[in-house]
Amino acid sequence: MHQEVRARISALFVYKHYYQLLEEMNTMKSDVAVKSTKSPQDPIVALCGADNTYAMPLAVTIRSAVENLNSDRKLIWYVIDGGITPSNKRRILKSMPQSLLGNQLEIRWIPRPDVFSENLAKRLDRESFKFKHKLLGHPALSLENLAKVIPALPKNHVHYSNKMMKNGDSFEQSFQHSNNLSIEETIDSIRVSDSYIMISSPEIDDSFASLYRELITDVETLMQKRGVGTKAIDPKLYLFIASPNSITPFHIDRYSTFLMQFRGSKEICVFNPWDERAVTSIAREAYVAYANTHLPWCLENDVLATKFVFHPGETLHIPFVAGHHVKNGSEDVSISMSIIFNTRQTMMWRKALTFNHSIRPILERFDITPAPVGVHFWRDTAKAYFQRPVSRVTKLLKSSKY
Ligand SMILES: [Fe+2]
Repeated sequence: MHQEVRARISALFVYKHYYQLLEEMNTMKSDVAVKSTKSPQDPIVALCGADNTYAMPLAVTIRSAVENLNSDRKLIWYVIDGGITPSNKRRILKSMPQSLLGNQLEIRWIPRPDVFSENLAKRLDRESFKFKHKLLGHPALSLENLAKVIPALPKNHVHYSNKMMKNGDSFEQSFQHSNNLSIEETIDSIRVSDSYIMISSPEIDDSFASLYRELITDVETLMQKRGVGTKAIDPKLYLFIASPNSITPFHIDRYSTFLMQFRGSKEICVFNPWDERAVTSIAREAYVAYANTHLPWCLENDVLATKFVFHPGETLHIPFVAGHHVKNGSEDVSISMSIIFNTRQTMMWRKALTFNHSIRPILERFDITPAPVGVHFWRDTAKAYFQRPVSRVTKLLKSSKY
């Protein structure tokens, strides 16, 4: 009964009953909850949670319980299913004494909750939206853990700036290893130092690893519902720690994003993803192609954006290439974390945008403007398909000064 069977379930979204069950389990020393029974005729009821990684220890745990079961007792074993594959479920059942299955032993799967409504899935990469997450209080995100983990990460995962940024600055060029303060000093003085710390892939530290997997499972559930693939492409966590009032300048991302707030507040302005008035096609294509990451900024455009006031416990979806900028609240240090990823669809858009960036200077010689990306599926698919050869040819033409 004491095998290591850990619940690794959906962590991103609220599902009260699910978490209540887990909280009850967490109050026990073991990861397996067993209901005491009044009469020897009553079945023994056990509850545990496991994900696919722990399918085998789960099988061993149940099997060891069965081996010690009196011949006159029945065991009903509930498993909170954190994503165990059908084939592993079959293996678990096969590993049990077949004569007892269905009679003395019952294994009942409590399915993973369907946390995403069809409506929410439909909005992925079409518009920004806000909802609750359930990671508040997660030990990985405590200041104590961050102060321990961040200095130990490889230097190329830790980016920080000790100067206040403003809209109009190039977000991607703002980060540098400061000459003034070390990362430890920056963390210590974050409340007053006008600093901004960005950690890429904190999941390489063990304390973030399971959290990372859980978030990917949630993202992939949403992707499947939206019909844009089953596997998140290049999923990655980013952690942001910012001084009060600090600003993340106007920029777009080459990924879809879910941003979660843990401490302090923010005001986030998000523009519609393909709004030409916020980001022109030329600027968007150059940004996605890594040719120019400095986006023109115009304060008057702010009326076009949706403004979200963002508090701990909330998640915001920022669609692929949607312009956005962030102002952290004045009252406290802000701690937030995002998961970024590409889908089959956003990968196609990335390639189509890069195609347009490559071919635009050539077409303009003939007064032709490439058709915008994000309007016609088949046109974007064709552009994505030809992106590599076209980029190669245009590079050659450029180097030969055609
Ligand atoms: Fe961003």
